[in-house]
Amino acid sequence: ADLVTILFHLGEMATATQSLDETTFELLADELGYKLDLVSPEEEDKELLETFDIDLDEEDDEEDLEYRSPVITVMGHVDHGKTRLLDAIRSGNVGAGEAGGITQHIGAYQVVQEHEGEDRSLTFIDTPGHEAFTAMRARGALVTDVAIIVVAADDGIMPQTIEALNHAKAADVPIVVAVNKIDKEGANPAKVRQQMTEYEVVTEEYGGDTMFVDVSARTGEGVAALLEAVLLTADAGLDLRANPNREVRGIAIEAKLDKGRGSVATVLVQSGTLRVGDAIVAGTAYGRVRAMINDAGERVEEAGPSTPVQVQGLSSVPRAGDVFLQTEDDRTARQIAEKREALERNAMLAKARKRLSLEDFKTA
Ligand code: GTP
Ligand code: MG
Repeated sequence: ADLVTILFHLGEMATATQSLDETTFELLADELGYKLDLVSPEEEDKELLETFDIDLDEEDDEEDLEYRSPVITVMGHVDHGKTRLLDAIRSGNVGAGEAGGITQHIGAYQVVQEHEGEDRSLTFIDTPGHEAFTAMRARGALVTDVAIIVVAADDGIMPQTIEALNHAKAADVPIVVAVNKIDKEGANPAKVRQQMTEYEVVTEEYGGDTMFVDVSARTGEGVAALLEAVLLTADAGLDLRANPNREVRGIAIEAKLDKGRGSVATVLVQSGTLRVGDAIVAGTAYGRVRAMINDAGERVEEAGPSTPVQVQGLSSVPRAGDVFLQTEDDRTARQIAEKREALERNAMLAKARKRLSLEDFKTA
């Protein structure tokens, strides 16, 4: 009522549910002696989670951290061989022995590579690189540790190569360049290295700090060397550790509605260990983990850091980039989801009107 009165004096006839533009809100705040602080959706969500005692920025104690696999995204220009390379990486690992093996596509997978006498695993996200990467980065949910930029040696640097480079740079993610299609006539891997220097990506061979590896996704040549380069790059600059013994935090990589199984979401666990029965909220989807399937299509009971799993049991389909949060119980998960839904509805209405509602106006 006070706000309505003040607005009346400012010459604006308003009711409590009325929406006003930003300028009027500024006047209103001025009149009341407050500074107007527009809250972004991310901040709003953080505040919402805080009311449930969830702090996304909470850091783990050093002694709780354990090694985890690096998470890798493959990016590059159209037709330069991203999909084929991911297939080559995977099939080199799955092994021909698995005749007719119907490996389920879950949007991410893990492979093992021997590196300096040790078996090391790497997690690949194989959703259409750009979209997933962009959506996730836009939402502050960075999952990638290392980006492989694929450049076809017969084509050289193209617009989306540069776009991919810019994404990686903006996200401060180290890159490895896979110079692909070296089996093709007219392939010129040296030219790719040369062109890349114009974008300040300089190969180690020229005294720079980026590893370039010549590969053929068709013949499989160079694929093992590429994995080794990724591990070297990851080990050189990254802290690959996470706490497997805490409430789960992860990111939805992709999700869909399945006729028989309902909502199925591929989640990359970032910390904690996800188990069947856990209460989860992801965006506005919530529920208990009913079943989990790994990248080999097998049912699993748990998934630790850097492990991708497909999760069944959520109430709806989360979006790529939604944060997976384990909550104390399913009631909490549901409450968070419902509050988010209400916030989203408000935000959408406000956006449609390009205005804020008087009800959005709170004092901190
Ligand atoms: P988009 O998903 O459309 O952006 O393309 P992509 O980057 O995933 O390329 P994709 O893997 O579909 O490969 C494009 C074409 O290049 C296909 O016909 C592949 O068979 C071919 N190709 C990919 N890698 C190689 C390679 O190493 N050698 C040869 N000769 N052909 C390749
Ligand atoms: Mg592709």
